[in-house]
Amino acid sequence: MTDARPLLEVENLEASVAGKPILKGVSLSIRGGEVHALMGPNGSGKSTLSNVLMGHPDYEVTGGAVRLLGEDLLPLAPEERARRGLFLAVQYPVAIPGVTTVQFLKACVEAVRGREATKAAVFLRELRENARLLDLGEPFLNRPINEGFSGGEKKRMEILQMLMLKPRMVVLDETDSGLDIDALKIVARGVQRLIGPEIGVLIITHYERILTHLPPDHVHILVDGRIARSGGPELVRELEERGYDWVREPATAAASEPD
Ligand SMILES: Nc1ncnc2c1ncn2[C@@H]1O[C@H](COP(=O)(O)OP(=O)(O)OP(=O)(O)O)[C@@H](O)[C@H]1O
Ligand SMILES: [Mg+2]
Repeated sequence: MTDARPLLEVENLEASVAGKPILKGVSLSIRGGEVHALMGPNGSGKSTLSNVLMGHPDYEVTGGAVRLLGEDLLPLAPEERARRGLFLAVQYPVAIPGVTTVQFLKACVEAVRGREATKAAVFLRELRENARLLDLGEPFLNRPINEGFSGGEKKRMEILQMLMLKPRMVVLDETDSGLDIDALKIVARGVQRLIGPEIGVLIITHYERILTHLPPDHVHILVDGRIARSGGPELVRELEERGYDWVREPATAAASEPD
């Protein structure tokens, strides 16, 4: 059964970083079972939005609201948001020297899903099964997480973490960038394993390619901190063909109109 309430509601969200306004009134509503794509030029605020959703401390929310299943997320710490079912696959995954992938994922799973989920036999079986799905062999699990991993391996590690945490609402920030054709299919397969009528997905991307594997129901284009266009999958094709200028123009015109 699909929940009647939107899974994620972003309402007129405004946010600044280092005192500079970046998000200037972003609204989005994602229901269970829906895949949304967020596209937009470099620097338009896509990662800022994902960081704000997750509660990154560098980003100051200056207006608007964010709700997950009706609950106000903004007062919650990032780990509380994760416990409520929000997951962000970051654009630039970081290494944690001295902490193996198994240790890291175990700590994350325990924090988000509770101790039951990390009972040795269950946890390791689940971890191995998901790692296999993502073509990450046993040696990866015992290496310090992301240390010396290639770009594509790091992205697959984000998806492994996602599968282990079993989130309700997933934000993928350019998880497709830097992936070869096979790795892209593997990442898409990982996301497909998770998605279902209860799960919402927001895919931030610059390219059509990942969206052929994970077709979006809705596409939004962020320009200078505002959603300049929303529409169906046909927007992706249009962007590929025409670039961003045609979207930028009306946004600029609207911005310069007197109130
Ligand atoms: N921690 C930060 N400190 C200073 N400036 C920041 C920070 N995070 C974001 N910005 C600025 O906010 C703007 C939006 O950046 P953001 O990373 O959200 O863009 P993006 O749409 O994700 O771009 P890309 O497509 O290149 O990933 C940029 O001008 C960036 O320099
Ligand atoms: Mg970004």
